Amino acid sequence: MYHIEKNTVQETLIIPLFGRKVCSEHFPELFKDPEAERICSMLDYDFAENGQKMESAVGLFGALEVAQRQYDLAWEVKEYLIKHPYAAVVNLGCGLDDTFRKCDNKACVGFNIDMPDVIKVRNEILPAGERENNLGYDLNDEHWMDEIDPSHGAVFFASGVFYYFKTEAVRKLLQKMAKKFPGGIIVFDSCNQRGAKMMTKTWLKEAGISDVGAFFSVEDKAEIEVWSNDFTSVTARSYMRGYRDIYNEVRLLHKLMIRFCDSLVKMQIIKITFK
Ligand SMILES: C[S@@+](CC[C@H](N)C(=O)[O-])C[C@H]1O[C@@H](n2cnc3c(N)ncnc32)[C@H](O)[C@@H]1O
Repeated sequence: MYHIEKNTVQETLIIPLFGRKVCSEHFPELFKDPEAERICSMLDYDFAENGQKMESAVGLFGALEVAQRQYDLAWEVKEYLIKHPYAAVVNLGCGLDDTFRKCDNKACVGFNIDMPDVIKVRNEILPAGERENNLGYDLNDEHWMDEIDPSHGAVFFASGVFYYFKTEAVRKLLQKMAKKFPGGIIVFDSCNQRGAKMMTKTWLKEAGISDVGAFFSVEDKAEIEVWSNDFTSVTARSYMRGYRDIYNEVRLLHKLMIRFCDSLVKMQIIKITFK
């Protein structure tokens, strides 16, 4: 058993992991994820509080969001690997997410990057396999970029991570990545400021974020397009409907929540292609 402290940055990775487990149990035809179930069973963490919340009808929608965004980002990774089979597959702020293994084509190279204390736990629970590296870095320390060989292409993804970053930090990070990894892509989830405000009551609370003004949120992808001349394109798709449309698979309440999130919270998967 591996202990996860409450009210630490480590704790933020529990929510998506637990969400994937809950979805695996509640929606097995859509999100069967035995690995998420296995990892949760290895953690010494009081799931009771989050568990009760997530088993409620509204809570289940949160679980659907995190499971669906992993599906969306994995879709983009697999798509990139069709043309770049030997590419670097880089999970930024990986927590205990195993997307690399879900996308592994037996030729690409995986990099899972997170804070050193998170990587310590990850090394115990998900030790790096073949062609896989777990790297402990603060993403704001650009030295992590030197670990990635871009010669066969690079696909980056960040799942539930940039909400914890100031807008300025995301802008700098993306600008540097575009210069360093030409031909690469990055995909990540985002929401608008209304969504970020809603998250401060739940998800971002553990990270001590209450004032979202300076933190990253996106109303319209045009805000990002102007950040760099090294971006070839910036596209945005709906989280819940843009890749695999699950609208017709879910109950009425969740249908209404999907509509709300699309139109008023702007929950999107953003993809940037580097020149
Ligand atoms: C909500 S969790 C998401 C974990 C994982 N991507 C998933 O979907 O299961 C956010 C993750 O971002 C990591 N993170 C936040 N800020 C970071 C930074 N500056 N450098 C590296 N990792 C960071 C946290 O440690 C945490 O694991």
